[in-house]
Amino acid sequence: MSRADKVASLARRRGFFWPAYEIYGGVGGLYAWGPYGVVLKNKIANLWREVFVYKHDFVEIQSPDIAPYVVFKASGHVDSFKDVMVSCRECNRKYRADTLLKEHGIEIREDLSPSDYEDLIRENNVRCPVCGGKLGNATYFTTMFQTIIGPYSENKGFLRPETAQGMFTEFKRVYEAMRKRLPIGIAQVGKGFRNEISPRQGVIRLREFDMMELELFYDPSDDECPYLDDYLDEPINMLHKEMIERGDLSGYETMTVKDALDRKIIDNSWMAYFMILSHIFLEMLGIPRTRQRFREKLAGERAHYARKTFDQEVYLDRWGWVEVSGHADRTDYDLSAHLKNSGVDIYAERRLKEARYVKEYEVRPRVRDIKRDFGDKVGVIMSRLSKSDVNKLLDSFKRDGYILIDDIRLDKKYFDIEVKVKKIESEKFIPHVIEPSFGLDRIAYAVLEYAYNEKGDRIILSLPAYLAPYDAAVYPLLSKDEFIEYARGLYDELVKSGYKILFDYGDSIGKLYARGDEIGIPIAFTVDYKTLEDDTVTVRDRDTWVQYRIDKGRIQEFIEKILGGIGFEEAAASMKLELI
Ligand code: ATP
Ligand code: GLY
Repeated sequence: MSRADKVASLARRRGFFWPAYEIYGGVGGLYAWGPYGVVLKNKIANLWREVFVYKHDFVEIQSPDIAPYVVFKASGHVDSFKDVMVSCRECNRKYRADTLLKEHGIEIREDLSPSDYEDLIRENNVRCPVCGGKLGNATYFTTMFQTIIGPYSENKGFLRPETAQGMFTEFKRVYEAMRKRLPIGIAQVGKGFRNEISPRQGVIRLREFDMMELELFYDPSDDECPYLDDYLDEPINMLHKEMIERGDLSGYETMTVKDALDRKIIDNSWMAYFMILSHIFLEMLGIPRTRQRFREKLAGERAHYARKTFDQEVYLDRWGWVEVSGHADRTDYDLSAHLKNSGVDIYAERRLKEARYVKEYEVRPRVRDIKRDFGDKVGVIMSRLSKSDVNKLLDSFKRDGYILIDDIRLDKKYFDIEVKVKKIESEKFIPHVIEPSFGLDRIAYAVLEYAYNEKGDRIILSLPAYLAPYDAAVYPLLSKDEFIEYARGLYDELVKSGYKILFDYGDSIGKLYARGDEIGIPIAFTVDYKTLEDDTVTVRDRDTWVQYRIDKGRIQEFIEKILGGIGFEEAAASMKLELI
């Protein structure tokens, strides 16, 4: 069995995830996350918030999953969010053309047209992977789910394929509520929906999935990220344009963040900052940096809104390098598009370094004089004047000394002209956006794959302690009343102190340990004969199965160390515990 199959089997058996609607035969690309899976996803999302949002005083919003047609028309998704599809002429199964070719070991760029795909399929004699039949024409398929909003069929809408548009459509309100300060990061953790053509990669490719997205809005005339300095010497793994163009696709080049910026491989300091944070974030989740890289997307491969993009990829057992987050420079593309299509002023304001002074003229008609000389025509004259542009009136006065309203000539004497000097201290502009966008399901899967270990015929899920579904387990050595009672007391005490604890009994201690190891519980406390005599328990490490003796009163201190990321041996040594 491949590692991917083993992870899928463990996930199904122990309640991390499985194909949804199994009782009705299942639906491709729809998965359920179960009790332990949800805890894992929530913990990853909370860590993401810590790293990307709270640390910077950015903000989080929730916008609807459903959007009216106009939003995704304006954003460019209606025209661009599509994949190339081919159908089998024999069995009519449909496939995403790029996936099919990649499965045949054919390396392709992502900017190919349907006819390019047809050529490649013919040249390489690619056939239907299920029935071996000949493949038909390639066509575009829009991968957004369409819906109708309410009972009127003309009210078309979409399920959002990214949460990001919510940050753009709601930008004005958030910006105003947050006292109009830039830079501002607006985050959202929520569902994205994509009608993938033929999803066959488990939770890697879903039709409904969770995204963690951050849109960083900044003033393009002040684009320095103030947090980057501390990270300039950090190593970052880059599969950059130059490597891709010479066909060197298998690995990456490690350089410092500073080098990547000096060499202009990354050309925006916010983007560099979020990329290095992403390396570190995945490391915190147990995915070594050596198994991560950033792949530059070439022109034609990038989404329609992006000036520059890097995909953060993780090496997975069955699928090789898989994208887990996308880092895009979206410029002012989205806000400009919504400004143009909605007609609403979605500008930000910047203070000018030096105030400017401009002359403003006011032209006020002398109504009484006009009435005296033009009688009942005054109504028409006033109405036309109210719609006139002040500068045009001034031009006419300057050029001719009068203005004409139809055939009525109004000399300058019928007006008071006043000049005011106005102080301008700020100006409007459209913010630019850097976006790191993460797929939570893919990341949770990668975490499980990297945590998966075997020891003999036993499975151990070596999750970082703070990601485990329980902080610790409490077991009685034997299912005897006095042990169970003591263990339950310990469990109650720990739960009262706010820990998430598994209390289990009724099986041999070996089986209890094995069950705990499989779902990643980092430590187990076991109540035995000695406990009843001296209030000490055994503490056991999930990964090495090493055991120490610990006073009951020091258990919480030990848990704290483990949750804080300190290794088991180190924690035991620092507390001078006795090895068993
Ligand atoms: P891919 O090329 O694999 O289809 P993408 O380039 O379309 O991915 P993005 O549009 O950059 O992906 O989406 C942002 C993130 O959302 C991705 O990095 C990935 O983690 C996640 N994601 C995208 N599509 C899916 C999907 N169908 N199922 C699960 N996660 C997804
Ligand atoms: N918001 C980025 C994406 O969906 O591609």
